[in-house]
Amino acid sequence: MKNALTVFALLAMNFVFTSSSMADEHLADRHRKLQVKCASCHGETKPFTAPKMDKCLSCHGGSYEKLASKTAHTHPNPHFTHIGDKECSSCHKGHKESQLFCNDCHAFDVKVP
Ligand code: HEC
Ligand code: HEC
Ligand code: HEC
Ligand code: HEC
Repeated sequence: MKNALTVFALLAMNFVFTSSSMADEHLADRHRKLQVKCASCHGETKPFTAPKMDKCLSCHGGSYEKLASKTAHTHPNPHFTHIGDKECSSCHKGHKESQLFCNDCHAFDVKVP
């Protein structure tokens, strides 16, 4: 009985976490909550196009090398690959679900935030 209750509590917690933090929030929404404006990613030129990596890097460590050291524990390290330094938006989408473009050719089980 005690075990069943524990399992139930864990399931309920898991439900609360996934539904409140991830479900329908995309990267741009999460940035907006941190007071990051549209123009911080897109610049002032309209209409907006996919942000260039220098915009992202201005807040995120300044280089791919720095990013790679932060994700060194992930295999494969998404920020140090045989493809070189691709635009961030090839994986990190702003307004839809992100995706690992590597999986055009591979089948890595890695989630992109
Ligand atoms: C004005 C500064 C700023 C800009 C520009 C910016 N970010 Fe962020 N970003 C942040 C802050 C602050 C956080 C929260 C702290 C952290 O995780 O570093 C964050 C978090 C993240 C996270 C991890 C947390 C999450 O919500 O998924 C990712 C991934 C990310 N940013 C990617 C990007 C990409 C890609 C771009 C460019 C398209 C970008 N950021 C542009 C400030 C910025
Ligand atoms: C090949 C796909 C890919 C590309 C391209 C990419 N990322 Fe990521 N990024 C990921 C994945 C996957 C993670 C999650 C890694 C993990 O869970 O450790 C991540 C995590 C992050 C995080 C959170 C790191 C942390 O502290 O946990 C930030 C910030 C981030 N990326 C920024 C960027 C920026 C800025 C660029 C462009 C300069 C970029 N990424 C390019 C796949 C990518
Ligand atoms: C964290 C950085 C970030 C923020 C903040 C952000 N965007 Fe984006 N946006 C992206 C990325 C990455 C893409 C390209 C991938 C996609 O479409 O999701 C994009 C794509 C777009 C596009 C489509 C451009 C194209 O590729 O044709 C438009 C329009 C846009 N954003 C508008 C906005 C508006 C309006 C805001 C403010 C409410 C905003 N964005 C805030 C990252 C961001
Ligand atoms: C256009 C197809 C293509 C894309 C896109 C691609 N790869 Fe690869 N990758 C290959 C090929 C071909 C090999 C060499 C054959 C092999 O060893 O599997 C390889 C080998 C590898 C290897 C070493 C072999 C292994 O499977 O352990 C890793 C790790 C890897 N790729 C990671 C990545 C990552 C991470 C990305 C995204 C940033 C990526 N690849 C994108 C085609 C691709």
